[in-house]
Parts: sequence; structure tokens; C-alpha cells
Amino acid sequence: MTTTSQTITAAASGTWKLGDRTVNRIGFGTMRLPQHGEALVPDAVPRDRDEAIKVLRRAVELGVNHIDTAAFYFSPLRCANELISRALAPYSDDLVIATKVGPGRDPAGDWLPHATPEQLRGQVEENLRQLGRDHLDVVNLRIVGTDSIADRFGALAELRAAGLIRHLGLSNIRPHHLAEAQAIAPVVCVQNMYGIGVSPEQEELLRRCGEQRIAFVPFYSIAGSGRTVGAPAHDSGTVQAVARARGVSTAQVRLAWTLHRGPHVLAIPGTGDLDHLAQNVAAGSLRLTEDELADLDSLHHATA
Ligand SMILES: NC(=O)c1ccc[n+]([C@@H]2O[C@H](COP(=O)([O-])OP(=O)(O)OC[C@H]3O[C@@H](n4cnc5c(N)ncnc54)[C@H](OP(=O)(O)O)[C@@H]3O)[C@@H](O)[C@H]2O)c1
Repeated sequence: MTTTSQTITAAASGTWKLGDRTVNRIGFGTMRLPQHGEALVPDAVPRDRDEAIKVLRRAVELGVNHIDTAAFYFSPLRCANELISRALAPYSDDLVIATKVGPGRDPAGDWLPHATPEQLRGQVEENLRQLGRDHLDVVNLRIVGTDSIADRFGALAELRAAGLIRHLGLSNIRPHHLAEAQAIAPVVCVQNMYGIGVSPEQEELLRRCGEQRIAFVPFYSIAGSGRTVGAPAHDSGTVQAVARARGVSTAQVRLAWTLHRGPHVLAIPGTGDLDHLAQNVAAGSLRLTEDELADLDSLHHATA
């Protein structure tokens, strides 16, 4: 088997249910699409529109039916939601688009203070307008810090009750936030930073999500410490050794390892590159051996 084969589709990664919606475990994150290079900076270099649209259409052709986005994913000339709408509307019934609210950027791309409960409705409506939808499949409340999220999550629960949102999730949370939110409305996913050697302190939350059949959706599982800048040029010796032995890329090893953390772990790798996209989708079929997992687990926990 070659894991760069164009014939491996996202179905090879297995499925998970986000509320009443079934998705393949390998999905796609759109943060990389509006620009080349670093994301979320005001002077980002816009990506060619046709190039970004090709990546989105190819992702769907390869079976991706879970796409992560946000209204604050934009460069001076491109906006992730607009690209999704151009590339994929009219949307197929099995496509689940998950967006995030909380953070916001002004038209010039500078960060605004996080949304108040009252402002969240405007952010939800902004996503609806840009995506051209009447409801949003999944909305994650993306937070910073340890403060109570009850007022903000309560505001989103009201929008869910009003039919604007089908399912709610949380992002960048600590474990206590999950219980706080669940007392208000059901939570179908938690999207936190996680990967080999990336936030090993997330293990408890990852396990808790699995016990409650909540999806755990890591971000930066390839980019790691490169965060908004992107994947570092060189990976660790351990990841490289596994990649060499299996004839795959280090990015594929990183994605496969996260999927091995539990059937409830989904992947949303971001890329603007068609070859990387095919590799990432194919990583869903890579089954790591016990020995390989043990080596990668050691590397993961060595950074704790
Ligand atoms: N909730 C949150 O707070 C939060 C924060 C950040 C991101 N997110 C979401 O999570 C998604 C994933 O994060 P991400 O896109 O930053 O990180 P990622 O998937 O971990 O890595 C993306 C980086 O790795 C490179 N890459 C991807 N596939 C590769 C491959 N097969 N081989 C070599 N390099 C590869 C990309 O560059 P190329 O374009 O050159 O492939 C890019 O530099 C985002 O797109 C976004 O939807 C959520």
C-alpha cells in the first residue's frame, strides 16, 4: 500500500457521529486557504482563488465531509467561508461545516476583543451570510482563559433552540468548561490543540470526551509548535524513523497517531497543497504497529 495513492478516500479513516450527522474521521481545516504562509496576520499574502477552490473540491471528491472554518479566517483578498461557498454550494446533504465564534477581527485583520454573549448572534449571522446557509451544522464557542463560559454558551444555546444552529461544540477549553456547558446544552465536540508532543496535558480531556461520546478534534497536530506559521521544516528523529520505515511522510505519521488515540478523535488537517491533501486523507488508512505507537507515545510524553 502506498499512502500517497490518490484512490484512498476519507472513508478509510472510519466514521463518527457529530450529533445526528455522520462524518469521516479525516476532515479538512480551512485556516490555510485564504493565504500563503502565516495565517491570521493582517498583511498575509492572499492565495489564488482558483487554487483554493480546487483544494476544497478535491477534498470533497476524496470523501471529506467534515470541514472546519471560521469567519475570522481571512486574508486581505480571501475569506475561507466565501471560498467554501464558491467551491461547494449547493452543499451536498452529507457535508458538515463546523465554524467557530468568539474571536473576531476588524476589516483590516486586527484582532478584536472576544465577543460578548450579545455579540455572538451577529457572529453566527455573519457565518450564515458568508456560507449562504439558513442554519449552521456545528458552532464551536472558542474561548481563552479559565473564566465561566455559561453566559456565552447560553447565548449560543438560545440560537440553537431558535434553529440557527444544529449542534454546539467548544474550543480551547479546560476540562471544567465541558461540564459547565453540558449543564446548559449538549456538546458534540471539543476542538483543542493536540498532537505528538503538543499539549500532552490534554489527555484527561481527550479521555473524558471519549467516555461521553463527544468528538475530540485536535488542531495543529501537524503544525505543532509552528502554529499559525505552519509545519516546522524538520520533524523529530522518532517521527522521521517511523515515516521512513513505513514509506510515508512525517505529516501522515502525526495524523495517524492522533487518530489512534481513540475512535472519537477526528482530524482537520489544513493545507493549500493538493499533494498534501491527498497524503492527509490517505493517512486515515495508516495503521501504526504497537511498537511504533509506543515510540511515538514516549516522544509525546517526553514533552510533558
Ligand atoms: N480552534 C482553534 O483555536 C483552531 C486554531 C487553529 C486552527 N484550527 C483549525 O484546525 C485546522 C488545522 O490546523 P492547521 O491547518 O494550522 O494545522 P495542521 O493541519 O496541523 O498543519 C498545517 C501546516 O502543515 C502543512 N501541511 C499540511 N499537510 C501536510 C503534509 N501532508 N505534508 C507536509 N506539510 C503539511 C501545511 O502547509 P501546506 O499548506 O504547505 O500543506 C501547514 O503549514 C485549521 O485549518 C483550522 O481549521 C482551529
